[in-house]
Amino acid sequence: MIDSVPLLPHGAGWHRSDALLDYRDVIDYPRLQELREEVRPAFSLKTWESVAKAMGALHNREELFPSEEDRLLRFNHRRVQIGAKQTIASTSRIALEELILGLRPWRKGPFELFGIEIDAEWQSDRKWSRVFPHLEPLQNKVIGDIGCGNGYYLMRLLEHGPKLALGLDPSQHFYFQFELLQTFARQPQVQYEPIGIEAMNVFPEFFDVLLCMGVLYHHRNPMACLLGLKDSLKKGGQLLIECQSIPGDEPIALFPPGRYAKMRNVYFVPTAPCLEAWIKKAGFVDIQRCSDVAVSCEEQRRTDFSPNESLADFLDPEDSSLTVEGHPAPRRVIITARKP
Ligand SMILES: C[S@@+](CC[C@H](N)C(=O)[O-])C[C@H]1O[C@@H](n2cnc3c(N)ncnc32)[C@H](O)[C@@H]1O
Repeated sequence: MIDSVPLLPHGAGWHRSDALLDYRDVIDYPRLQELREEVRPAFSLKTWESVAKAMGALHNREELFPSEEDRLLRFNHRRVQIGAKQTIASTSRIALEELILGLRPWRKGPFELFGIEIDAEWQSDRKWSRVFPHLEPLQNKVIGDIGCGNGYYLMRLLEHGPKLALGLDPSQHFYFQFELLQTFARQPQVQYEPIGIEAMNVFPEFFDVLLCMGVLYHHRNPMACLLGLKDSLKKGGQLLIECQSIPGDEPIALFPPGRYAKMRNVYFVPTAPCLEAWIKKAGFVDIQRCSDVAVSCEEQRRTDFSPNESLADFLDPEDSSLTVEGHPAPRRVIITARKP
């Protein structure tokens, strides 16, 4: 039995005991172990070898590992800050900067690691400021973030004293970014499993609060996703969905035959009323639309840490209400609901 995470090669990352072992009587722990074993080979691929080696090398640098009392994890309203700038020697700084750059693109952030700012493509603090006011009190709750990216929101949840903040996301790339952050943050109540929303049945009636942001339009079957989320919420638990949407009052969804905003993996882009109808049909109650905004090129933009194309390149240069393919430009809608 594996009782330690992460799935990184030995010596890289922060090896700690498995936070989900404490819950083995209420989750399908054997199935979780099978899923971990299924993804394990992908983590020893050549692509990740040099990253794992560089992460392992940082372990010899004592100044990067202050005592527990001195360990710094702070939140100003924008950044998640880990480690103090003054504690880091210049050689370590260079090694860490290289590692951070080697893990580009950073899509979600911003973070600050020992004073090194990671200015990600998304200013995710803006989404957080739209989301957080609509969440119920998080103290001592079991919270899931499904499609958690590199864990920016998992770290933001930490500010509010959850019992467990569990992220699920199948991306190896984001998993490595998260593990780099956890190498220094060392927060045992935050856990990331590199598995997808299809595995919600591992966690029956487990979560008090579930966030699922930016995922439904990437999935072929959004109704199956919502039903899976419902099954893994406790009765009375809160769901928060954040989703790309198109403008409109009709309960309809765009199904782009080709790309949408240059993305290949977009299936259904609903209007806000359509998303509400999906959530209602999945059996949720108390459905509230909390926010519905156009995405701005300040919130999602190209940076040194994410140097590829970004929103400005995805919109029609003549008419920013359209994507380059001529579809309605994306909006972002937030809906909360409750499992009866
Ligand atoms: C648009 S990003 C949203 C990230 C973050 N939740 C946010 O709102 O900023 C979509 C995320 O969904 C993840 N994803 C892709 N397929 C998934 C699946 N089957 N289950 C869960 N997450 C998935 C991607 O790896 C990516 O991190």
